[in-house]
Amino acid sequence: MAEFSLRRVILLAAAITSSWIALLVIDGLPTETFAQYTKKTLVAHRGASEDAPEHTLEAYRLAIEQGADYVEQDLQITKDGVLVCLHDLTLERTTNIEEIFPDRYREVNHAGVSEKHWFVFDFTLEELKRLDAGSWFHKRFSGVRIPTWQEAIQEIRGKAGLFPEIKTPEVYGLHGFDIERLVMAELQRHGLDQPGADPDTPVVIQSFSADSLQKMAGEMKVALPLVMLLGERNRQWVSPAGFQKVKEFAVGIGLDKSLLRGNPTLVEWARNAGLSITPYTFRSSEVGKGFWNVRAEMAYYLYTLDVDALFTNNPDQFPDK
Ligand code: G3P
Ligand code: CA
Repeated sequence: MAEFSLRRVILLAAAITSSWIALLVIDGLPTETFAQYTKKTLVAHRGASEDAPEHTLEAYRLAIEQGADYVEQDLQITKDGVLVCLHDLTLERTTNIEEIFPDRYREVNHAGVSEKHWFVFDFTLEELKRLDAGSWFHKRFSGVRIPTWQEAIQEIRGKAGLFPEIKTPEVYGLHGFDIERLVMAELQRHGLDQPGADPDTPVVIQSFSADSLQKMAGEMKVALPLVMLLGERNRQWVSPAGFQKVKEFAVGIGLDKSLLRGNPTLVEWARNAGLSITPYTFRSSEVGKGFWNVRAEMAYYLYTLDVDALFTNNPDQFPDK
């Protein structure tokens, strides 16, 4: 009997200890150490895009309400040369384009299979404004429109920073557009093209394209902070030497979180190169393996790995608020 009880006590103690260790590992660090860290930066990825349709004014407004320091916009260009906020180069995932313009697609061969796609650059702004960009997410957002970048800036200005991403400059180049110059012209129109122009609305420009960033830092003499995005598609830059090279034209890197999880030393490489580090993307609908929730996942990257900022679809879950 005594032996049985002792075994039970040992098992119970082991269970409690392992849960406690699991808590520390999964949560990244004990909560009592939070206070010793300085404020980290929250970038709302496509707005509060877990709670509202991505890249709509509704998602941007909600991100601000939830305490975002910056609101991200992915930028595309319409047929008539207007910058709009949309992640994809095509419209079918987040709008009802197939219903409104059923015949205006291009056939694209993808890995031997013919696919229909409706490209942003084939539609004027007036046409895009006829699309419903909210119903795909939830019927309560029915009728919500794709915003121009100008509308987004007007909505966000004075309440948070802007974190525009220059998307597929090589594609827009083929269609006769200079996306970098369009972006800077829009910022200039708003008096936001210089660092510190509006302390309530700081601007950081990001891109996966080294050519694009080099062009802005070099021939265009853009003084705003530039961040190079790194992921599987351009992981040839992910090395100590690669980071030193990035530092020649950017002040920071935005890093796919899975690369960082596999190799936390990347933070040290970035620090040694003098680069800030902002991993992407943290979302409650796709929590990283081993974490209980997105808040715990973000806490691990912010405090254990000590990144400077992060992109999240869930600004309300950001631990440092
Ligand atoms: O800008 C960081 C992150 O947004 C990059 O990925 O595809 O969501 O634009 P994506
Ligand atoms: Ca982006």
